[in-house]
Amino acid sequence: MKRILFALVFTFVCACQAADTVPLTSLDLANLHFEGWRKPQTDKSFSGRPLSIAGQKFQNGIGTRALSTLWLELDGRVEKFVAAVGVDDSTSNETAAVCFTIIGDGKKLWTSGAMKRGEAAKPVDLNLKGVRSLLLKVDHVGESNNFDYADWADAKFIAAGAKPRTVNAPAEKKVILTPKPPRAPRINGPKVYGCRPGNPFIYRIPTTGERPIKFAADGLPTSLRLDTTSGIITGSTPARGTHALTLRAKNRHGSATREFKIVSGDTLALTPPMGWNHWYAHYNRVTDVMMREAADVMVRTGMADAGYSYVNIDDCWMNATPDAKRTPDPLRVGPFRDAAGNIIPNKYFPDMRAMTDYIHAKGLKAGIYTSPGPLTCAGYCGAYQHEEQDAKLFAEWGFDFLKYDWCSYSKVAADDKSLDMMKKPYVLMGGILKKLPRDIVFNLCQYGMGDVWQWGAEIGGHCWRTAGDLGAELNRIFAVALKNAEYRQWSKPGAWNDPDYIQIGYVGDARGEGMPKPCPLTPTEQYSFMSLWSLMAAPLFYSGDMSQLDPFTLNVLCNPEVIEVNQDPLGESARVVKLTDDTFLMVKRLEDGSHAVGLCNRGETTETITAKWSDLGLTGKQTVRDLWRQKDLGKFEGQFTATVPRHGVVLVRVR
Ligand code: GLA
Repeated sequence: MKRILFALVFTFVCACQAADTVPLTSLDLANLHFEGWRKPQTDKSFSGRPLSIAGQKFQNGIGTRALSTLWLELDGRVEKFVAAVGVDDSTSNETAAVCFTIIGDGKKLWTSGAMKRGEAAKPVDLNLKGVRSLLLKVDHVGESNNFDYADWADAKFIAAGAKPRTVNAPAEKKVILTPKPPRAPRINGPKVYGCRPGNPFIYRIPTTGERPIKFAADGLPTSLRLDTTSGIITGSTPARGTHALTLRAKNRHGSATREFKIVSGDTLALTPPMGWNHWYAHYNRVTDVMMREAADVMVRTGMADAGYSYVNIDDCWMNATPDAKRTPDPLRVGPFRDAAGNIIPNKYFPDMRAMTDYIHAKGLKAGIYTSPGPLTCAGYCGAYQHEEQDAKLFAEWGFDFLKYDWCSYSKVAADDKSLDMMKKPYVLMGGILKKLPRDIVFNLCQYGMGDVWQWGAEIGGHCWRTAGDLGAELNRIFAVALKNAEYRQWSKPGAWNDPDYIQIGYVGDARGEGMPKPCPLTPTEQYSFMSLWSLMAAPLFYSGDMSQLDPFTLNVLCNPEVIEVNQDPLGESARVVKLTDDTFLMVKRLEDGSHAVGLCNRGETTETITAKWSDLGLTGKQTVRDLWRQKDLGKFEGQFTATVPRHGVVLVRVR
């Protein structure tokens, strides 16, 4: 009897203990963010092998890859977090090194310090009583971030009845920082505009303010005409040379003027191109109707008034074969070309010329995409051996921008991996575009191969992607920005480093090319995205669902003072001043002698950041203006200090 009673009590105690132990692997790991494309692994390393740290095997745990973050909400009743951490033995990188950090309620609670491959697992036994917000983070250590596989082995919570819950990121309110544009006109957009003599010209004067507005342009070359109601200038690009204009806008609340230079010569995109690209919203679902809708929305929401002008189709407007990698919609399957070799758009694009006419009628520009290989990245018809014919057709259709990818080109290229081979398709297309009777901005999309920033401009490119697709790495906007900023010396008018599109608002998950849903970034991160891209003078292409733009997203996209930093005629990309591991300044010199400064915090806790005038090359008293709030903060002697939230950028202009 005694033995039975003992067995019952023992079973009961064990059951209670088991219920009180919550393995990390039992939680929803969809909220685990990490670098790269694969899924996080449960009970396996990131590479899919058994979990193993310095030869010690573990049955249970998570195999992830730095940079990796997992946020949890606790209810203050979780007692402990217990685990063994280290670099997984399955990494093929001999020098793989990471650092595990645990942050609770904004404070660093535990860190492993740098851990190398082959180093014994470090035990974690952390008291969490009272903690409500927890972050399990793995950082890269050292230069290379290749195969930084990191294990949270045997990881569990000791939770007396409490249930920890993973979350996307700590909840943050969407605060609209920017005041509404005044009712009186304000002329925005670039101050200088490049074009080639004799080509079709179209420019919509970006202007906020209550309509009707009456526009005027002093010094308008005779080859151009201005529609005084819409503010759209059309005609033929004037003779070679710089044409100085004064743009004017007037309504019942007031008036505005702006100096504007048309530089007719050889260089387009004298300021970073701005617009919208369909990719991260609609992937292979894009249609003519969506493109027209995007143009409507760009005007209706005021994006065009802030300076956005290109409406660009990405991949999947052509036909695919029925056996393409992802079985395509039957309406996107068909012959690639007609008997004369002309590329045939798929059934969702019944009339390209009518579509660009529609976009142009709004004073906007249209962009198109193709790839130098036989197939595009999504497996649709590419331009291989039809480069000139396709480019001519794009011009005839009325396109003003070409994104030229790389996909499938390596299959047809002489496979010597030489720089010449990497350049070849772009040299070819660059030469073709220059001769066309249309201004077509040339965007190279080959992910930075062969240090494209060093030769992109000389072969006729105007902007070039500096890395792979950012959509799969949205948790890395700071890392990507810092990498992109390393190529700042090649950024200049007509030549821009492109770290990929702004993905805020509703975007479709790039990993699965899903339907648009709210982006995973916090409101602060969304502001940071725009601040960093503006400081770097990056092309500003929004790539989210235009039909679901909300006031918060629009306020992030459309602040004219922030955009002015991006569009500054000097064309300088910000210089980085490193302060600590987590904090840095981005300093961009502007044409009027002032500086745009980003006080940047890529870390997980709130930081106090100081911008010293000596780091900016300034002395004495300087006026500081908060650009997001469009508010002067006062005069500051020697330095300016701000409190910057996790993943935040405080963006100011110092003069
Ligand atoms: C590549 C590019 C993306 C997009 C897709 C389309 O991945 O980098 O920007 O154009 O192709 O398939």
